Amino acid sequence: MYEEGLETLKREGLLRSISDRDSPQGRVVRVRGGEFINFSSNDYLGLCNHDSVRKAAVRALEEYGTGSGASRLLSGGSTLHRRLERLVSRLKATEASILFGSGYAANTGVIPAIAGGDTTIFSDELNHASLIDGCRLSRAGTVIYRHGDMDHLDGLLRRECRGRPLIVTDSVFSMDGDIAPLTDLRRLALSYSALLYIDDAHGTGVLGRGRGALAHFGISPEPFMIQMGTLSKAAGSYGAFVAADGGVIKWLTNTARTLVYSTALPAHLVAASLEAVEIILNDTSLVERLWDNRDRLVSGLHSIGVDTGRSETPIVPVLLEETGSAVRLSEFLLDRGIYAPAIRKPTVRIPRLRLTVTAAHTEEDIGLLVRSLKEARDCGLF
Ligand SMILES: Cc1ncc(COP(=O)(O)O)c(C=O)c1O
Repeated sequence: MYEEGLETLKREGLLRSISDRDSPQGRVVRVRGGEFINFSSNDYLGLCNHDSVRKAAVRALEEYGTGSGASRLLSGGSTLHRRLERLVSRLKATEASILFGSGYAANTGVIPAIAGGDTTIFSDELNHASLIDGCRLSRAGTVIYRHGDMDHLDGLLRRECRGRPLIVTDSVFSMDGDIAPLTDLRRLALSYSALLYIDDAHGTGVLGRGRGALAHFGISPEPFMIQMGTLSKAAGSYGAFVAADGGVIKWLTNTARTLVYSTALPAHLVAASLEAVEIILNDTSLVERLWDNRDRLVSGLHSIGVDTGRSETPIVPVLLEETGSAVRLSEFLLDRGIYAPAIRKPTVRIPRLRLTVTAAHTEEDIGLLVRSLKEARDCGLF
């Protein structure tokens, strides 16, 4: 039934397949029958397989069992869920927060809950797919503004708003690693009385000494701001949260369909997140190591003339001219013990390797990556 579509994907070099891991997530992974230094995960702080995080999950597994068995509004929640929400509110400096099953579920549940037919959404053109789908699921009209272009957004807010405005943005753009101009977004939100929804999936645990993008800019949360963050990236666990004013959280608890009609996170994942967020709040050494590694990687790449685009974070793209060279470069690195899969359409317009560096990488790992890319460049691979 789908043969023709699959054939087309194959012909265009866009057919994707899944490579399963045979090891924990981490600095080194066993995949495709070999062991590789991993530059492809969002495990920024190396917490996916961290001793105390794993132990916290095991303890909760013994105490609470495997599944949560129901939606949060029935019997799915536990005291751990509540504790994590309090801790997240501390991390994000908000009055309240609520957990969701995943970042995808949060975005596709929250946006329709806060944007009805009387809302106009203003969405950055490079927002994550889950934000785009959240906008599509809502009954609001959506206006797309050019990536990070505040003049464009200003003009659109002035001309295109048909009701209550809602501005939606990633804090760190997941494929380019640049940071949204939140100071300007706050100013525009204030001057047009807009809500500002910030997806801090890649900022939480990374920016602002781990507290996220608002802290990075020195902005205190205000009632018109809603922060979403994931527990699956720097926190090394699974799930997501939304942090905002108490009234907003109460509204979401009653109206976000992906919360109301979906089974709660299992308690052991919540326990892992609790431990991870405690680490992020109390020990900044991992975040410091992450940024040292990020700086080491980027200066290494620049020293060999690699263009890292707009990257300002541990997400570092190597932009390439065509899909074929992205795939060939990824295979070349695999031969040298490095795992960095190619990213192509429809995820991105410009094919690339999306390198992510973590606190767990060593100087040698980064040196190997830079040397291998230099070799690939000298061979004319990109
Ligand atoms: C910016 C952004 N938002 C949301 C998500 C979705 O989060 P999750 O993987 O927890 O569903 C991702 C993850 O890939 C992301 O990069």
